[in-house]
Amino acid sequence: LNRTQKDLKIIPLTAADQAQVAGFIREHWGDERVVVHQTVYYPAQLPGFWAVEKADIVGLVTYQVSEGACEIVSLDSLKPAGNGVGSALVEAVKAAAVQAGCRRLWLVTTNDNLNALRFYQRRGFYLRRVTPDAVSQARFIKPSIPLVGDFNIPIRDEIELDMNL
Ligand SMILES: CC(C)(COP(=O)(O)OP(=O)(O)OC[C@H]1O[C@@H](n2cnc3c(N)ncnc32)[C@H](O)[C@@H]1OP(=O)(O)O)[C@@H](O)C(=O)NCCC(=O)NCCS
Repeated sequence: LNRTQKDLKIIPLTAADQAQVAGFIREHWGDERVVVHQTVYYPAQLPGFWAVEKADIVGLVTYQVSEGACEIVSLDSLKPAGNGVGSALVEAVKAAAVQAGCRRLWLVTTNDNLNALRFYQRRGFYLRRVTPDAVSQARFIKPSIPLVGDFNIPIRDEIELDMNL
């Protein structure tokens, strides 16, 4: 174990964290809402986990359990890749999903997010579905979604990934 992993703690969100989660999501996603597959989520109202190193917040994941499946709604690591923060947060959600009796873990990302596509596939997720131009729909609800994303790729499509539990 490197130092970061040894000092990394994964802590469940509580109701007392709502304002801080809302602030974190606003800071990293430009809005308190996450809009995917024509659904509006408020991560501050969802279960999730902080990643904490010493006294610092270094990551956040939120999820929703519905109909025997668990959806990762937001996932953010504030540490450079290779410190294991994203992996630890996904593992925590996976364990919570199994505990809740879910048979499937899934999420939606966008076509520009090549890093997330790499990260999730390396963590055992499969590409499940592409919804062409879904982000144009989401922009009606959340105009702050940028037109251009990572690597200057136009943000257009939603890509669903999942794994069986
Ligand atoms: C996607 C995201 C959450 C990944 O988090 P991360 O903290 O970089 O992830 P990790 O450090 O756990 O893993 C990244 C790589 O480091 C490697 N790694 C993990 N722990 C390691 C360690 N202790 N030593 C060396 N390498 C390690 C992992 O194996 C992984 O490489 P691999 O995928 O090729 O196997 C992060 O890039 C992020 O926040 N992106 C912006 C927001 C976003 O796009 N979220 C997802 C869409 S909702």
